This record gives sequence, C-alpha cells and structure tokens, in this order.
Amino acid sequence: GRLALWGGRFKSGPSPELEALSKSTQFDWRLADDDIAGSRAHARALGRAGLLSPEELQGMEDALDQLQAQVDSGAFTPDAADEDEATALERGLIAIAGDDLGGKLRAGRSRNDQIAALIRIWLRRKSRTLATELLGLVQALITQAKDAGNTVMPGRTHMQHAQPVLLAHQLMAHVWPLLRDVERLWDWDRRADSSPYGSGALAGNTLGLDPVAVAKELGFSRVTENSIDGTASRDTAAEFAFVAAMAGVDLSRLSEEIIIWNTQEFAFVRLDDAYSTGSSIMPQKKNPDIAELARGKSGRLIGDLTGLLTTLKGLPTAYARDLQEDKEAVFDQVDTLLTVLPAFTGMVRTLTFDQDRLEAQAPTGFALATDIAEWLVKQGVPFRHAHELSGACVQIAEGRGVELWDLSDQDFQEAFKDFLAADLAPQVRQVLSTQGSIQARQGQGGTAPERVTEQIAQALDEVRSL
Ligand code: ARG
Repeated sequence: GRLALWGGRFKSGPSPELEALSKSTQFDWRLADDDIAGSRAHARALGRAGLLSPEELQGMEDALDQLQAQVDSGAFTPDAADEDEATALERGLIAIAGDDLGGKLRAGRSRNDQIAALIRIWLRRKSRTLATELLGLVQALITQAKDAGNTVMPGRTHMQHAQPVLLAHQLMAHVWPLLRDVERLWDWDRRADSSPYGSGALAGNTLGLDPVAVAKELGFSRVTENSIDGTASRDTAAEFAFVAAMAGVDLSRLSEEIIIWNTQEFAFVRLDDAYSTGSSIMPQKKNPDIAELARGKSGRLIGDLTGLLTTLKGLPTAYARDLQEDKEAVFDQVDTLLTVLPAFTGMVRTLTFDQDRLEAQAPTGFALATDIAEWLVKQGVPFRHAHELSGACVQIAEGRGVELWDLSDQDFQEAFKDFLAADLAPQVRQVLSTQGSIQARQGQGGTAPERVTEQIAQALDEVRSL
C-alpha cells in the first residue's frame, strides 16, 4: 500500500490493526479548514525564509485554494489509509501540486506543533459562538425577570419555604453564574491566545521561520514561550473543558427548578407546547424533556472534563500520542452545548408563570417568621430571644393549623410578654405581609424591588460589555 508520512525507515506499511487504532480522521477532519489556513501561513513563512521561491509560493497558495475548494465541496475527503486530518490533507495537496512542490510544505513543522495550534484555533472560534449562545439565554432570563415585575414567590432553602423573594430575583440568580461562564471564556481566551506553530516536534525549528508572523496570520497575538510546553501542554483544552462543564452544571441547576416548578404540585410554570414533549402511552402528559436532557447532558460534559484531565495526568513532558485524546472531549462538549443551548433558551423564553399561584404560596409555610424576629430586634429584643419568640409563634400557628397572620392580638401579647408592652406586641402585623417582607430587604443584592431593578440594569450593562 501507500507509504505513511514516516515511510523512510520502515520496511513495511502499518498493520491493519494499528491503522484502525491509530486513525483519527473520523473526528479530527473538522480541523481541516483551520489546517489549510495554517498551511497557508506556514507556506508564506517558508517563502520569507527563502525556502520557497516566489513562484513556488504562488503555486502552493493556488494548490491550497484548490484543496480548500475540494474540501468544501466534499470532493476531497480522508480515505481509509489516512492516519489523521494532516495526513489526508498532505495527500490531497500532493495530488494537486505534485510531489515536488506539495512535498515541500512539511519542512519546518511537525504534526505536533500543528495539532497543538489547531485545537486552540478551533476552540477559540467556538468559544465565541458559545459565549453568544450563553448570552442569548441570559437575555431570555432577564426578559422573564423584567416581565415578572413585583411578583413574589416562596424562596426556599433545603427545598423548604424560607423567605419570600421576587420571582425576578430567583430568575436573576441564574443569570449571574451564566455571565461568569461567559467571562471565564473571555478570560480563558487570553491564555489560549498563544501560537505553538514553530515549536516543531518539540525543540523549535532550524529553518529560520518566523513564528510571530505565522501566529499573527492565524489570529494569535503571541507565540508560546517554550516549544516543549507549546507542543506538550493541554491545560488550555482542559481549562476550556472546565468552563464547558461548569456551564453544563449551571444549566442543570436551572433545569431542576423548571422541572420542579412544572410539576402538578407546584404548578408555578407552564411550558410552551413547542418546547415540551408528550408521552407515547399517556395522552395527558406534557413533559419537560429539554430541561431533563440539559440536566442529563451535564453528566457527559463533566465526564469529558474528567476524561481529559485523567489522560493528561502524569504524561511525560513532550508530545506523546495520548494527547490525541484531547479532541473528542472538547468536540463533544461544544457539540453538546451548541445543541442544548438553543432549545433551552427557547424553553426559557416561552415559559409562562402562574403569578397568582406564586403570590399565594409566597408567605405560606411560616415564611415570615424571620420578619417577626427581625421586627422584635428593631424593638430592642436581642436576636437570640427574638428567634425563640418568633419560633413560639410558629409553634402556636402550627398547632392550630393556621398561618402566622391568623394569630390573635392576645397570642402575640402572650408570646412577647417578657420583652414587649401589651399594646406594642400586635403591631408585629406590619411585617406579616409578603410585600412588607420583600420591601424590607433593601441591602445591596437583596430582593427589595428597587434592588432587583438595579440588579437587572447591572446585568444588562454586563451583557453589553461582554
Ligand atoms: N493526530 C495527532 C494528534 O491529534 C497528531 C499527530 C502527531 N503524531 C505523531 N506521531 N507525532 O495529536
């Protein structure tokens, strides 16, 4: 058969079993466009170094254009014997430009620096698409938060009624982590913005090629400082994988809320028909599959990160073939997120909240007990006692199966008698309303309507700046 890229010192070609194991075109072919762009930049570097004459360079660029056109049209694809995308593209180039010219391109570069550069180029471009998708979801959440106005809902800790909060506040609690994910992508990009091209196999190149010019052409502002590090490290891929996994985890938390809010028992929210699914056997069912798939796929996003880190652990520091495993992990993450996010954003955009039900549920379950304690503090009662007195009110109400605001003046007088005058005690009712409770939480970051309005404006500012 055909000789592999390393044919010279071998008596035979690779065994079929080796080929089957070694082959990566089934997943790395998506790097072909970027590899051709890299080849163009590399050809120019060879030209500037005097290793390609002006005519040869022109011939090379024309051949690369033709190759790109064949790749675009699908006329050229990897064949069974191509080990990886780089092998396939060299075969394609030689078919167009001939052995003598086509065979010159490989000088001064190795697939090791080539692939290290390609994964960065590809991820940097996808990170921008991902950021745009995440910001689309953020925008949908902010719009829902604005539409929620001053609707109050039960705030929960440990899934138990805790204190009333604005629905907008709860929704915005999912905006900030997603904005941080976008920030993480930008921040990651500053570290990824460094070109390994020119590192060669590990030690750099002898041909006087200018890696800075190649880097510029490929959209990098710097060159990796160390050619061994440039070809051997994959922390850039791993850090990207963390951000992707984190975004998945953030989506899974929002998924869980939507799934619970959409149950018959909660009935806080309704899903649009276009963003929910039915059951093949139970005609009445309307299922939150998008949220469930997003929640489920966070598992594979984490798995991709874990797999990659495990591959990298303990590797010797220069290229080893293990590094080929970096790609499927991050490709899968990008594919997963770019499939999940559009559907997820559509689901969020079309949610309808049952505002009356949220309002009615908000103060139940003794959710105003903290407000009683804090009102007592304002009357000079030490919080330790205030907590107990409020707890006593809860105990009375719970015993009678009523809510806190159903207690009589006498109940409050009796409960507070060691600390407050009888005429003062019933005034606690001032804070026994949801609106009163919300209004009181005026500190920055709190759920008071004014603070939430500011918060929404601040988030919109951040969306614009990202
Ligand atoms: N396909 C390899 C990868 O994705 C690059 C080729 C390097 N191979 C080699 N034998 N040095 O990492």
